[in-house]
Amino acid sequence: MTPESTTDSGHAPDLMDKLVSLCKRRGFIFQSSEIYGGVGSVYDYGPLGIELKNNIQQVWWRDMVFRHNNIVGLDAGILMNPEVWVASGHVGAFTDPLVECRNCHRRFRVDELPEIEAENPTDQQCPVCGTTGEFTDPRQFNLMFKTFMGPVEEESATVYLRPETAQGIFVNFKNVQESARQKVPFGIAQVGKAFRNEITPGNFIFRTREFEQMEMQFFVKPGTEDEWFETWKERRLDWARSLGISNERLRLQKHGSDELAHYCKDASDIEYQFPFGWQEFEGIHNRTDYDLRSHQEHSGKKLEYFDQPANERYTPYVVETSIGLSRALLVVLADAYDEEEVENSTRVVLRLKPSLAPIQAAVFPLVKKDGMPEIAEKLAEDLRGKFNIFYDAAGSIGRRYRRQDETGTPFCITVDGQTGEDQMVTVRNRDTLDQTRVPLSQVSQYLHEAIHATDPHA
Ligand code: GAP
Repeated sequence: MTPESTTDSGHAPDLMDKLVSLCKRRGFIFQSSEIYGGVGSVYDYGPLGIELKNNIQQVWWRDMVFRHNNIVGLDAGILMNPEVWVASGHVGAFTDPLVECRNCHRRFRVDELPEIEAENPTDQQCPVCGTTGEFTDPRQFNLMFKTFMGPVEEESATVYLRPETAQGIFVNFKNVQESARQKVPFGIAQVGKAFRNEITPGNFIFRTREFEQMEMQFFVKPGTEDEWFETWKERRLDWARSLGISNERLRLQKHGSDELAHYCKDASDIEYQFPFGWQEFEGIHNRTDYDLRSHQEHSGKKLEYFDQPANERYTPYVVETSIGLSRALLVVLADAYDEEEVENSTRVVLRLKPSLAPIQAAVFPLVKKDGMPEIAEKLAEDLRGKFNIFYDAAGSIGRRYRRQDETGTPFCITVDGQTGEDQMVTVRNRDTLDQTRVPLSQVSQYLHEAIHATDPHA
């Protein structure tokens, strides 16, 4: 993209509109229940979106669980005993102050309207309808979704859709530590759905009401938590870079004391420079022993660790890393989107890291005759299982290349008239546009090496 056509962040000024349109057109992301007019800030992931999401999740899981012998996985239920959310502080404190304009009935979080927060919100002008003095007094709004368990809809049957996956980890601390025979320091990692009744969701999949989190709670000896907090900030920043995200669009931001969540003594966000400004991408939290201690008190069950060599018993402290999977997907898409002029037309290309691309290679017969489709179909069949392969015989070869560029396919393999004679195919590189002749028998190895070259862990 040329510098004059970009914003400070280097993104195209209308990037979000372009992404929303591309995501729908190419089957990455659809609005939920679209045929009924949608539902507020919930999204469905289409054939390409689910592949990209799965790839990001797998990269996270490999990095967290496979590469650390002291981090193990968990998959806890979404519905939990409601007492969990009392102990965690979410029933009492997971709230946002909200004001409503009596004229247009739009609701705002007080903290996203700085000019309102500064003075008496009730005297201010509504940024949507312009009416002055019609705001309600701020009231606390709890972000947890409630439902009922069992056949009776009464207060005692209330359960919550979890607003974070972390609590499933805390309540299983003892189960996991003992069954997996882990010694402090060790971590528990989890990926799963979370739900928040956000007052102002928005910016496409940036802030939604249903989303997935990838969280890891690292249990450490009290007194070592600050050192571990620093270590995890660095590790997580390195991981973000390993996704291929531009370093200049990533930064660490420390929370001010007035911004800390109720369970934190310290926190930093990894922020990404989105087209709509610097915003949180991942949170790293120094959670002390707040959660384990609180669950001990409320459940009456000990959640301590016995350090045998030191003959010492303590409640571990926790350093948490918490990232939204769907938010990571938005970062990856926004960072990969590019446009360039090629042969007098605009080429839209997603420069996704090959190991993250939803389709790793497309196989084309140049034309639908002279035995080319048969060879191409067989090649595609041979490659399937090792790579996610897309076969396409429709339209001109130029159009087929462009379609794959838009979905981030790093390699396009074309069977042409020559292939029947020399058993070679042309492999076109999405980024360089170079075309290389590769023997049919070596295409699989070629792809493996090319993907591996950009990601040694793929
Ligand atoms: N367990 C700690 C926790 O949940 P958080 O800062 O509220 O901390 C962590 O959320 C991460 O979850 C955020 O950095 C973001 O990536 C993601 N996230 C939070 N709310 C979200 C929402 N409404 N939509 C999408 N992702 C969200």
